[in-house]
Amino acid sequence: MGEYFGDILKRALDRRDFLKLTGASAVMLSFACGGGGGGSITGEGGITPTSSLSYKTIYPNNEDRVVVPEGYRVSILIKWGDPLDNGEPLNWNRVYEGPTTEDVERQKRCFGYNADFVGFFKLTSDRALLVVNHEYTNPELMFRGFDLNTSTPTREQADLMLHAHGVSVVEIRRKSDGSWEYVKGSPFNRRITGDTVCLISGPAMGHRLMKTSYDPNGLLVYGTLNNCAAGKTPWGTVLTCEENFHSYFGGDLSSISDDLVRSIHQRYGVPSRRARLYGFHMYYDRFNINREPNEAFRFGWVVEIDPYDHTRPPVKRTALGRFKHEAATTVVANDGRVVVYMGDDERFEYIYKFVTKGKYNPLNRTANFGLLDEGTLYVAKFNDDLTGEWIPIATVDGNRVIPNPNLPEPFQSDPVLCFINTRGAADLLGATKMDRPEDFEWNPITKSVFVALTYNERRGQSGYPGTDKANPRPLNHMGHIIEIKEQNNDPTSTRFTWVMAMLCGDPRATDENRKLYIYGQPAKETTPAISAPDNFAFDKLGNVWIATDGNPSPNRLAKNDGVYTLNVYTKELKMFLSGAPGCEICGPEFSEDYKTFFCTIQHPGEDGANTRWPYLGDGVVVPRPSVIQVQREDRKEVYL
Ligand code: FEO
Ligand code: CA
Ligand code: CA
Repeated sequence: MGEYFGDILKRALDRRDFLKLTGASAVMLSFACGGGGGGSITGEGGITPTSSLSYKTIYPNNEDRVVVPEGYRVSILIKWGDPLDNGEPLNWNRVYEGPTTEDVERQKRCFGYNADFVGFFKLTSDRALLVVNHEYTNPELMFRGFDLNTSTPTREQADLMLHAHGVSVVEIRRKSDGSWEYVKGSPFNRRITGDTVCLISGPAMGHRLMKTSYDPNGLLVYGTLNNCAAGKTPWGTVLTCEENFHSYFGGDLSSISDDLVRSIHQRYGVPSRRARLYGFHMYYDRFNINREPNEAFRFGWVVEIDPYDHTRPPVKRTALGRFKHEAATTVVANDGRVVVYMGDDERFEYIYKFVTKGKYNPLNRTANFGLLDEGTLYVAKFNDDLTGEWIPIATVDGNRVIPNPNLPEPFQSDPVLCFINTRGAADLLGATKMDRPEDFEWNPITKSVFVALTYNERRGQSGYPGTDKANPRPLNHMGHIIEIKEQNNDPTSTRFTWVMAMLCGDPRATDENRKLYIYGQPAKETTPAISAPDNFAFDKLGNVWIATDGNPSPNRLAKNDGVYTLNVYTKELKMFLSGAPGCEICGPEFSEDYKTFFCTIQHPGEDGANTRWPYLGDGVVVPRPSVIQVQREDRKEVYL
């Protein structure tokens, strides 16, 4: 096994020094120069900002289908179990009755479960790559008779679930009717799973806490897990984010003798009671913390993937810190440095940003591949006077790691701990505990940063932190959205101001705590209710597209999740799409020409929702998480 790892590492390091200028990388250069937002708000093509988003709003509902406004059409692009090679689809019904080793092998080459992030990477005007995360699996929906309270998976069920996680890269092409289809057997198609070799780079590479019996040098990890949202870099890679990685680790914390290991695991919720649902710790030693106490340190990272080169291993970029990463979205500052905005999605956790030391090079793609290994990691502090500051946690400069001088031991003598135990460092620096930070993204048109705080029903409750201006609601069931302006519109700035863009809720609610406010104003009664904001996309005019994850809860709207649009000029909120029962909506994304809107229907049927969506008439008895696409019937840009 050691030799195997050595070969992969050698190949990866060789490739890092030299990437052949293939057709793919030439495509990338055009992406790098032309992509990433830009655009004019002064009425390109005769469109003025206020005349955009002219569709008639839909409203939250409980329909057992995907609903879009009049004048739009929706279709499925790819779903769990569709083959990425030229082989057969996953045999969903056999998997339901009891998967075989043959099914496990097929899952390794078929589209994974619970699609989350969607990233569109143009190849030509009618061809593109989609990069899609597969966040987690629902054994109670995949396998007949699986009881969430009592069942444990069989070996084949666990294996299948491990390979249904990770990331898919899939080529798509535009059909004559303007919609897209995926290309079976494309050489670009790729599955990265919970078992694919990933490299470790940045400050934590080789640290003693990163070493395990299968990787004694702390350089390589099997797999990436719980990939929730993500971001795209200007050089055409994906930063996929490992979120609730603790869910997969089982074992007994109290029998770990190393105090430091034990305390960091405790801070991150390792091990987890949820491990029983996946069973990985039953069948793989590395997920049992008593057999491999350090394996959990090798998850919780941002992982960089090159969709254009399937031979390049995913790389865990440890300078971006270790926490339950929701997403990692980038912007290039005027001076060429790259800034990455990141949320840690758990109640009372923090928001972070990373500023690279080096500058983005638009003329040499591979020169950017090490950019995320050096720079400064910051955590945010919000002040009640609507100002805020970015507090440095640590800086990586070459081989040196320089911790914030205010951090106590052991961060001074072992500063790499700032990256492995990022939460622990942030706790000591006075950062603001937020209401579950989800997406955190720079709007290229407004040049402000939107952060989704999905909800936190423990805020202000006994034994938990109270409210503050940035998290103003006790018992925050509905969630909120903050808009941040970096000082001088400079994303590298260490100071900012902020406003409450949205306190989510129902405009007709009588309880103030559940009422919808937009930029401080109560919303009109005709505005659709919204809760649990999760992920953002921005159209060409800077309008904010918001996907939700939580409307179905009886504590929120008891309606299906959806996609909403916030017109940044008129401040009008509309509902654009609603999903199947029990699902959340993820991955809002546009095609480069804005004529297609992509999103995912994740976990249809969860929490006992009665659906077998998408009902394709093919006799399949289980619901299937899918990527869907929406176009206007007149084929014009979706946001018009
Ligand atoms: Fe996986 Fe934070 O949603
Ligand atoms: Ca999310
Ligand atoms: Ca979510």
